[in-house]
Amino acid sequence: MGTRPSRRSPGGHRASRRDLLLGLPALGLGAFALGGCAQAGATTDVENVLSISLNQTESHPSFSALSFFGEQLAEATEGRWGARVYANESLGAQQEVVQLVSDGAVDMAVISSTQVENLSMDFRPLNLPGAFESIDHQLAVLSDESIVGELFASLEPTHRLRVLGGFTQGSRHVYTDRGPIEGPEDLAGLKIRVQESDVFMALMRALGGSPTPMAYGEVYTALQAGVLNGAENNEVSYVTQRHYEIAPYFTLTNHLVGLDYVMANVDRIEEMDEADQQAYADTFAAAQEEFVRLWIAETDASTQQMLDAGVEINEPDPEAFGPAIEEVGRTFLESAEDEGMYRAVQAVAESMGEENA
Ligand code: GCU
Repeated sequence: MGTRPSRRSPGGHRASRRDLLLGLPALGLGAFALGGCAQAGATTDVENVLSISLNQTESHPSFSALSFFGEQLAEATEGRWGARVYANESLGAQQEVVQLVSDGAVDMAVISSTQVENLSMDFRPLNLPGAFESIDHQLAVLSDESIVGELFASLEPTHRLRVLGGFTQGSRHVYTDRGPIEGPEDLAGLKIRVQESDVFMALMRALGGSPTPMAYGEVYTALQAGVLNGAENNEVSYVTQRHYEIAPYFTLTNHLVGLDYVMANVDRIEEMDEADQQAYADTFAAAQEEFVRLWIAETDASTQQMLDAGVEINEPDPEAFGPAIEEVGRTFLESAEDEGMYRAVQAVAESMGEENA
């Protein structure tokens, strides 16, 4: 595996990925002593420390929820298992890290659903604009075994990867270094970073911008260098990554409700005895609930921080971008299986609507 030079992110210093990976096998009991290390996260003082890769800063809800997971796991397994969260992409960007988890070099990671789709197209229907109407709808789908049960286990035979569950990315919006953006014509010619995914490339074209695929951790510097005019994400990422410093026009395009998967290496989970595996699953479920609570509070706090920082938040006419966004959703439903899953997801929303009626 190659090495790359240390980089700096808005979230802090980065050690080279190789340095960190070389340190991983030795973590065990000694890991506690490294707890104050700038690029590492919470560490539990336990016999077996699970390494968790995250591309967010320590102030992101995913970091807090996974640190909580490590602490709870240590308690539930009486110190046999715990976790340590490596923030700020310090173990690598998601596209490489998913491979490291598959290989067993890293135990767990938060991976955006777009990257999972690059491993298996079966995940695509959940990544399309229009798939999820709201965070509540997404949560209901995530807990519906008939929709996600087989899907989440489908990468085990081929990649040794298990999807434990998901953390919402909330609604995603576009932000730029100029504005206001009222419709696709205002994004014409602007280079907007997207995740490395065909759906996002098409989506950004439909919104009117020039899509530029790039790893998350590179965006701040690219915005600063003028290589990008903007990007798209939720309020929490926009604030924690400090992108508002360079791209202070935030346009509520609401192009989709995104999803992060928390993935784990199956062989590593199977090292646990049965009771510990159960504790692991229960603890993850509790962390998922903790995440939702944190996410809602943090989205509100981020919006306030944006306003305090002088970000111009613009809400365009929903008709300006809406039809183009919906069209992208339809274009990518390519097979009967995709259609079937998409319909099952819509049916969950409909039954929620009926319940609330
Ligand atoms: C969100 C998401 C990340 C993802 C990022 C991105 O922040 O939570 O998992 O990597 O968007 O746009 O790349």
